Amino acid sequence: MFPHRPSLLAPLVVLSLGAAMTANAATRVERKPFGKTPAGESVELFTFTRAGAPTVAITNLGGHIVSILAPDRAGRAVDVTLGYRDFAGYLGDTSYFGSIVGRYANRIAKGRFTLDGKTYSLATNNGPNSLHGGPTGFQKRVWTPKVVSGKDGDALELTYVSKDGEEGYPGTLTAKVVYSLREDGGLAIDYSATTDAPTVVNLTNHAYFNLAGEGEGTILGHEMQIEADAYTPVDATLIPTGERRPVEGTPLDFRKPVAIGARIDAADEQLKAGGGYDHNYVLRGTMGELRLAARVVEPKSGRVLEMLTTEPGVQFYSGNFLDGKVVGKSGKPYGRRSAFCLEAQHFPDSPNQPGFPPVVLRPGQTYRQTTVYRCTVAP
Ligand code: GLA
Repeated sequence: MFPHRPSLLAPLVVLSLGAAMTANAATRVERKPFGKTPAGESVELFTFTRAGAPTVAITNLGGHIVSILAPDRAGRAVDVTLGYRDFAGYLGDTSYFGSIVGRYANRIAKGRFTLDGKTYSLATNNGPNSLHGGPTGFQKRVWTPKVVSGKDGDALELTYVSKDGEEGYPGTLTAKVVYSLREDGGLAIDYSATTDAPTVVNLTNHAYFNLAGEGEGTILGHEMQIEADAYTPVDATLIPTGERRPVEGTPLDFRKPVAIGARIDAADEQLKAGGGYDHNYVLRGTMGELRLAARVVEPKSGRVLEMLTTEPGVQFYSGNFLDGKVVGKSGKPYGRRSAFCLEAQHFPDSPNQPGFPPVVLRPGQTYRQTTVYRCTVAP
């Protein structure tokens, strides 16, 4: 009856919606109690919301990413990261589900290294080696939380002071990790650290992803692409030999997208050592510059994960040690290869490998790394 009316009104509606969206576009972080540690420390859960971005929850216990709700092609959001059903699960974590890892992510051979002529012995927890900072690494610590305001709106700044001698590492290290949700929907993790005596540092996040949803079977059908022409081969205890070996002609070649499961059980001495993929890739491009490291597509849902980092390497781990004993958030057991990790890092065992990019931090210097996990959908 009034055919002209809608066309007159429409621009007004669009304009006012546009204004509202700009006003609300920035990230908001809400906090609530999550639990208490046996030592009586209060731990909180921080929920990040932003229009057009996945909703993300993070706790200050070990900085674990607790959930990431990412939509599929049809807009149906599911939780794409592994985690526990409750706070007690996080207290007992042995899998590093979404946690910060430090002081040194990945392995240090025999838990020993020499710095400025002095040899340090670390707590060992992985056969003869020290893994992920030792048994009581950064994933077990209660970090001091602060909701700060940045260019993306609210962000969560976590601080932890690791004492001189903790887990065998020299120097008091002050570590800061800032989680923010960017305009493009990416979850950015900005790490920095300073020390009062020479030490070694390698920080990462150990999020496990299943883009079909946590607990929804294996990730063998996910297509993986890694921006790397070489990797660092390992011995039977997963310590690098020091070599950088081309991926070409091996089942470790992910320069073009390939299903994770396509070659995972190939007769290959490297895959045997890891029980699947558990290898450090030497990323293309310039260390220190944020660039694409990996892209993963889950063909059925169309969910895509892109990972960007400033680090020289990434550990691609295909969840080989998951064995179904942990029952996850929605009550489903996490079986072998039911998730993958992309851990941005300096190369494993760098303190003992003079040919690898250096990991020594000295007083007056600042360690920095940035990694972004971005969930999108394929067309
Ligand atoms: C890293 C290691 C793996 C394993 C997992 C945690 O990815 O390289 O070998 O320890 O962490 O289980």
